[in-house]
Amino acid sequence: MAKWKYDVTLTAKNDLGSDEKILEIVIGDKLSLTPPMGWNSWNCWGLSVSQDKVYDAAKSFVDKGLADHGWTNINIDDGWEIFGKSDAPKRSRKGEILTNEKFPDMKKLGYDIHALGLKFGIYSSPGPLTCGGYTASYKHEYQDARTFAKWGIDYLKYDLCSYRNFMNNQNSVEELKPPYILMNKALRSIDRDIVYSICEYGNGKVWEWGESVGGNLWRTTRDIWDNWDRMYEIGFGQVENAKYAGPGHWNDPDMLVVGWVGWGPNLHQSELTPDEQYTHVSLWSMLSAPLLLGNDLTKLDTFTLNLITNDEVIAIDQDKLGKQATPVIKTDDIQVWKKELSDGNIAIGIFNVSKENLDYKLELKKLGVNGEVTLRDLWRQTDIGKFNNMFTTRIPSHGVKLLKVFLK
Ligand code: GLA
Repeated sequence: MAKWKYDVTLTAKNDLGSDEKILEIVIGDKLSLTPPMGWNSWNCWGLSVSQDKVYDAAKSFVDKGLADHGWTNINIDDGWEIFGKSDAPKRSRKGEILTNEKFPDMKKLGYDIHALGLKFGIYSSPGPLTCGGYTASYKHEYQDARTFAKWGIDYLKYDLCSYRNFMNNQNSVEELKPPYILMNKALRSIDRDIVYSICEYGNGKVWEWGESVGGNLWRTTRDIWDNWDRMYEIGFGQVENAKYAGPGHWNDPDMLVVGWVGWGPNLHQSELTPDEQYTHVSLWSMLSAPLLLGNDLTKLDTFTLNLITNDEVIAIDQDKLGKQATPVIKTDDIQVWKKELSDGNIAIGIFNVSKENLDYKLELKKLGVNGEVTLRDLWRQTDIGKFNNMFTTRIPSHGVKLLKVFLK
């Protein structure tokens, strides 16, 4: 529960005029009142991640202005630990988990990331090994939580991986909960706020119980790839879980696959077309999904930079009401999703999921919108005009029209 709430009015002025916004500061036990925004090493570097690469990503958040748009977390995924099959000791004599040679000084990395004004995330697994075969937290949960705190960790992704070998039924809630409860207790026992990201691929309908085991977010699906079919299957499949999302507890349909990605040392440009990338970012924002970039931030072209720094689109994701969008109209070609916003207005995404460019006539009444409303194109940041029920628009194949509907 929120213990204290402060409204701070921010005013910006220049020759063209001035504008005001209220920044709400909430202090209490709940973490992640809006979906986490940040970067995770997996979709670009995979197991080839290193301390330098992580720091470069952090530096880019600041140097390229991303931090000014809300991008905050810098999260290391798998590959920082000692490889399970290596002969080297995996833990110190006191049992403290060791980093591999690619991470010479984790505490320094934490310090450096914090010095940039950013937050630091890490990855482990409740089993003996991570998915990549590296050392994990099994039987060292409390100790690892303490080590993470010592390194200045603010965010933990806890990935089921090899723990599955201890389970009889991969979808059994009774079997899935205990390892997550254990790490939650460990995290709560230390004097540091650590966002808890559950990763077990949506097994046992994790959205129904993720919050009860302390999760601030939980992966709802298997891993994403940078192609339309996988992004479509994952993104447009987020329907049943909608009512479980809210401030402090989010459905996580996996990381963004825009920009240069590759899951290893060799990167390529996302195979999603530009329109598919607009759809990807729009849909994730409509879903109040965690926005975790998975690309090499040192290689940002103008298109990708614009795609991830549009404040009006990000505001849909970060809306403090935290309501996940739901589909209202669904045909083979078009899907229209609606999201309620904290200011009493709504956002709608009209997605053309067909292989053709289409002209589409939207009847606003079908979205529960009556009377004259103003529509704003969020990608273009312009008002389109006032409409009374019928709105016609052309949408490219696999593209989107992302609108804010001003009801008042
Ligand atoms: C699993 C997770 C991925 C990533 C890898 C790391 O596949 O779903 O997001 O963390 O493990 O090995």
